Amino acid sequence: MNPIMKTHPIAVIPGDGIGQEVIPPTLALLEACGARFGIGFEWKHFDWSADYYFRHGRMMPEDALDRLRPHDAILLGAVGHTDLPDNVTLNGLLLPIRRGFDQYANVRPAVLFDGVDSPLAGRRGGDIDMVVVRENTEGEYAQIGGFVYHQQPEEVAVQTSVFTRRGCERVIRHAFELARRRNGRKRVASISKANAQGYSMVLWDRTFAAVAAEFPDIATESLLVDAAAMNFVRRPHTFDVVVASNLFGDILSDLSAMVCGSIGLAASANLDPSRRHPSMFEPVHGTAPDIFGKGIANPLAAFFSASMMLDHLGYNEAALALERSISAVLSARQARTADLGGSSTTSQVSAAVVSELSSKP
Ligand code: IPM
Ligand code: MN
Repeated sequence: MNPIMKTHPIAVIPGDGIGQEVIPPTLALLEACGARFGIGFEWKHFDWSADYYFRHGRMMPEDALDRLRPHDAILLGAVGHTDLPDNVTLNGLLLPIRRGFDQYANVRPAVLFDGVDSPLAGRRGGDIDMVVVRENTEGEYAQIGGFVYHQQPEEVAVQTSVFTRRGCERVIRHAFELARRRNGRKRVASISKANAQGYSMVLWDRTFAAVAAEFPDIATESLLVDAAAMNFVRRPHTFDVVVASNLFGDILSDLSAMVCGSIGLAASANLDPSRRHPSMFEPVHGTAPDIFGKGIANPLAAFFSASMMLDHLGYNEAALALERSISAVLSARQARTADLGGSSTTSQVSAAVVSELSSKP
């Protein structure tokens, strides 16, 4: 136990589905971690969710960003409901926070842990250790477009992507900086599709080449997104940092999570590297309505996201300790949820991680 050196106000949005089941144990774990490393947290809960929508007709209040702004970080569970269209729930909560707080780097590590089986034959713990850095504020998610002849037989939909040089450049630079400090492999792969998208992806490629020239110590490759999908399966061990546009990064980060065994382990950080706004930390798995309410959701993706939050707040040692406790629980192959082939509950896995964290000197 250490005296609390500093207390951080953290906004907590459990959201919907299993988000409500994985966030409470995440706060308990962070409390345990904080007690050990002298970090205080002041949780501020927000009940913004589909349930909030059913009561108020919107996913979050109009001044939501102003209410979130004074916090050092945001912890998010998941958003979505089977009775609401996904574009309502997501465009009403998750996406406006990512854009409004300029969280332009969505960082998604994919690590094959010891004790976890990859669906790929012959891959063992430690073989895969990559991170997808996804552009998170523009690109294919820009929400520019409309309908003509709305809901008539001749209906036309237009959806426009927005790629700015500034937007490409800053996320690509973030990827290079991450490769420099990560683990010494110092590789960045850029994901393109300039053969079919002759404007946006040409700008992306040009920007990548210009930024790469500033980092002569980093090895680079540029892959078309379809070839990248193939190579995530064929040679996942060769990837270190992968940088991609919003949609390509969305798709590839699910693939990178899956070759590492389970989406139940996939963490993410929505970062505003300029630190002008709070960054947001969330597990990638979503609301999982099929298992919601059973108490069997894997809390480890949320725990990893919490360790990314600690790292962002400047507590590298605490973040590492948390990560080590999670990987110790995984390699023991005892407490594990159904997505990893086990039969433990969310609480049993959470208890195992807390006890691992407390047992280490
Ligand atoms: C993710 C999710 C979201 C996205 C959805 C829910 C809008 O799939 O965080 O990857 O596409 O960004
Ligand atoms: Mn996704």
